[in-house]
Amino acid sequence: MPVEIVPMTQADIPAVVECIMTAFADDPWFQWIYDDPAKYSKERNIASLTSRVLWGLNNAMFYVAKETPPSLEQTPPLPGQSEQQASRLVGVSMWLHPEPPSEPESWYSYFQHWLLFVRQFVNNVRYLGYGGLNVKRYWIWKSRQAEAKRQILTDPRGYYWCGILAVNQEMRRKGLGRKLVEIMTNQADREGMKCYLESSKLVPNVDIYRGMGFETAFEISCEDEGDICKVYSMIRDPKQTKPQQDLNERESEASK
Ligand SMILES: CC(C)(COP(=O)(O)OP(=O)(O)OC[C@H]1O[C@@H](n2cnc3c(N)ncnc32)[C@H](O)[C@@H]1OP(=O)(O)O)[C@@H](O)C(=O)NCCC(=O)NCCS
Repeated sequence: MPVEIVPMTQADIPAVVECIMTAFADDPWFQWIYDDPAKYSKERNIASLTSRVLWGLNNAMFYVAKETPPSLEQTPPLPGQSEQQASRLVGVSMWLHPEPPSEPESWYSYFQHWLLFVRQFVNNVRYLGYGGLNVKRYWIWKSRQAEAKRQILTDPRGYYWCGILAVNQEMRRKGLGRKLVEIMTNQADREGMKCYLESSKLVPNVDIYRGMGFETAFEISCEDEGDICKVYSMIRDPKQTKPQQDLNERESEASK
């Protein structure tokens, strides 16, 4: 079945949330931070992720992989249903724009962060808490992550940051993850920019990302009463694109 990578729309949000939640259910970081299954609230997590994805729609580059059933190619969508809605969402990636440390945060970005904070506060009130999130562990992770960022994210131009990448289980190993990454890394290569991501799944993710040009830059170790979670920070240097290579060759010829 044909799959295309397209920008996410508001109508995709419920399917995006479902795709992320399912893909990260066995993620070591997720299991470390939601450490008590008895306290876990799926509804609260859906509400929180929905707020986060809505933020991403307005502030990040959000792509979805959509499978179009062959029947849709012959049969038009039902009345009131757009073609996009009729196709099935099977993967997602969210990329944050580079933030050069020397540039102050814009008012728009400040407002959007504030709006996210308010939405999450409302979720806390509505669901009477964090839905099983271990708040102490959340802040341990945040502080270790900040230390790692200070040490390794030194490029003054900033980094394209992969905040979310997920492909539905039954659609894995068909090249979709690569497409959802390359849509951004190709642009980063054209602009000569670096990319960044984090993963707590050593196997198979670190090797998968190596195959896409990322290298491990830091091992973030989060520890709470002997229970350790490791998060692997990976950086990708830009590859020279063909026009850039041609330009470099012409310059080196001219300088001979
Ligand atoms: C990581 C993930 C997005 C990869 O998606 P995918 O669609 O399976 O990836 P692709 O099919 O494009 O594979 C990319 C490469 O990795 C390799 N690969 C994929 N899964 C692999 C596995 N389980 N073991 C070894 N190699 C694997 C593929 O062979 C391919 O290599 P190639 O392009 O050199 O042939 C997917 O496994 C996933 O959603 N995992 C759960 C959520 C998650 O961990 N997200 C990442 C958080 S940072």
